[in-house]
Amino acid sequence: MHTIILALLASLLLLLLYALYTLFVAPRFSPIRRLPGPPVKGVFSNHLHALLDPAISPRVHDLMIRKYGRNVRVRGVGPWDERLLTFDPTALNHVLRNATIYQKPWQSRAFISSLIGCGILASEGHMHKRHRRVATPAFSPQNMRALVPVVFGKGEELKDRWMTIMREMDEGSSGVFDIAHWISRATFDVFGVAGFDYDFQAIQREDNELLCAYKDMFELAVSQGSFLHTMTSIYVPFLLRIFPTKAQRTIVRCRGTIRRITGDIIQHKKRKLEEGVRSGKLYEAKDILTLLLKSNMSTDIPPDQRITDADLLDNINTLAFAGSDTSSLALTWTLHLLAEHPDIQTQLRNELLALRPPPTATLTADEIHSLYDAVADQPLLHNVMQESLRLIPPIHSSLRVCTRDDVVPTKYPVHDGDGRVIEGKNDFFLPKGTMVHVPIEAFNLDKEVWGDDAWEFKPQRWDDLPELAKNQPGVFPSILTFSGGTRSCIGMRFSVIEIKAVLYTLITNFVFATTEEQVIKANVVLTRPYVTGKYKEGSRCPLRVTVYEPQA
Ligand code: HEM
Ligand SMILES: *[C@@H]1O[C@H](CO)[C@@H](O)[C@H](O)[C@H]1NC(C)=O
Ligand SMILES: *[C@@H]1O[C@H](CO)[C@@H](O)[C@H](O)[C@H]1NC(C)=O
Repeated sequence: MHTIILALLASLLLLLLYALYTLFVAPRFSPIRRLPGPPVKGVFSNHLHALLDPAISPRVHDLMIRKYGRNVRVRGVGPWDERLLTFDPTALNHVLRNATIYQKPWQSRAFISSLIGCGILASEGHMHKRHRRVATPAFSPQNMRALVPVVFGKGEELKDRWMTIMREMDEGSSGVFDIAHWISRATFDVFGVAGFDYDFQAIQREDNELLCAYKDMFELAVSQGSFLHTMTSIYVPFLLRIFPTKAQRTIVRCRGTIRRITGDIIQHKKRKLEEGVRSGKLYEAKDILTLLLKSNMSTDIPPDQRITDADLLDNINTLAFAGSDTSSLALTWTLHLLAEHPDIQTQLRNELLALRPPPTATLTADEIHSLYDAVADQPLLHNVMQESLRLIPPIHSSLRVCTRDDVVPTKYPVHDGDGRVIEGKNDFFLPKGTMVHVPIEAFNLDKEVWGDDAWEFKPQRWDDLPELAKNQPGVFPSILTFSGGTRSCIGMRFSVIEIKAVLYTLITNFVFATTEEQVIKANVVLTRPYVTGKYKEGSRCPLRVTVYEPQA
């Protein structure tokens, strides 16, 4: 009996020692301490809020660069989690281009997988390579052209819906709309049709079973999920299976609905493709699901890189997750910025109206494509889009973990632990297991790169970029909004088409203005709009929308 108690006590003591060691001793000797960084107020405080809250993060980043240089040590969750925060383009490129060393942390992958399965977004290594290989052809520029009529169609539908609502309201040609809500209905519709040839009809009503399943799942997990539930689902997922919380039950129900309905759609598509092969009349649909199936059948994909039905379902979910809220927020923020800058909005409208096409509804497919080509070429529209994506990137930051000891090269000299420049030192040691914070917003808003007006909305800056801005990392030239390197956004061209076509339709038909309600940014997984003082009402972006009347 005594021996058992003694053994228990001994293990407890060991555990306590280990905890003390990881909390107080190990961090002091970690090589990451050689990098300078801001002090922490106590053992259990950290810098996460300062880094992640868009209301203060631009000032925090700015201060850090001035005080500690461009490679900084910050505190993640606790003392055992000293992270690298880099504002250095060479260091960042090294991290983003070396995806085998710098992987997504298992914690975020586990969290994403618990919702949407392990698709392109959450997988790593061989599995990711396979997913990306099969998906890349589906997102080729030629295939993205199929998106053009879909987006114009949905833009037109949204316009008609708003016109109807305005007529039903007293004022007739004006009304206040929650832009975030309406644009997200439109982008979800686009995702459905372009993604798998399925019309949610979310612009018309919101009762579609599959739509509700996606919305409920993302809402619960993302914007309303409790910290405790998220942590449990990451660290001890089996607990949720034994003691399912209300949130967990909702997720399970939604996943079931999604699996049933999209499973049917996948089988239906496969039959169409097989019939096509048998009859010699190939099935020509251009939705991403069909393209993924075709890509998987194509002979230039080696057998070990093919994907299964389960993978396919995960990828459809991934596109719903990665592609609909992000695009919707990009459009919402652009409209909000245009409402705040009526002069630029008017200039943009004039530029687009000068294209003078007949009403979109009467155009043939070819005419819609040439209209899009003309719209895509408009310089102010392009500048407005780039500037909005720069100023308010929907994904505020990302995270990587260093999976082996590495030496990171830098563009700017590294500072020592006290913040003093070490002349000529252009690299630093990064120990295995260190988290790397990828500050997307900080690169986009860097005053030393973009100039003192970096935090202002100035679309015309793109006509004459400073030399440093031209060499910023990222797949989209000069901005980090779509990330960079091997894990950058696969849907970038998709988004560009969506943003430009929807803006064209909305700006040529309506005038957008701010209301008395002040809209602010909050980082709730993505950078979303909230009304000051009305956080409880959830993400909203009210704007006054008035039908545009051309002056005679
Ligand atoms: C304005 C809209 C969008 C923005 C700002 C955006 C941004 C990003 C960013 C920053 C990443 C990297 C994430 C990370 O490293 O943690 C990413 C990845 C990804 N995005 Fe997007 N995205 C947008 C739209 C889309 C669309 C429309 C789709 C699909 C139709 C899409 C599909 C994906 C996928 C599948 C990945 C994962 C790629 C991989 O890991 O290999 N995104 N996106
Ligand atoms: C990847 O990391 C290795 C080891 O640090 C380095 O030699 C190589 O140059 C890096 N590759 C890129 C593309 O940065
Ligand atoms: C992809 O191709 C392989 C080999 O032809 C096949 O076994 C698998 O079922 C295909 N995947 C899908 C999702 O159709």
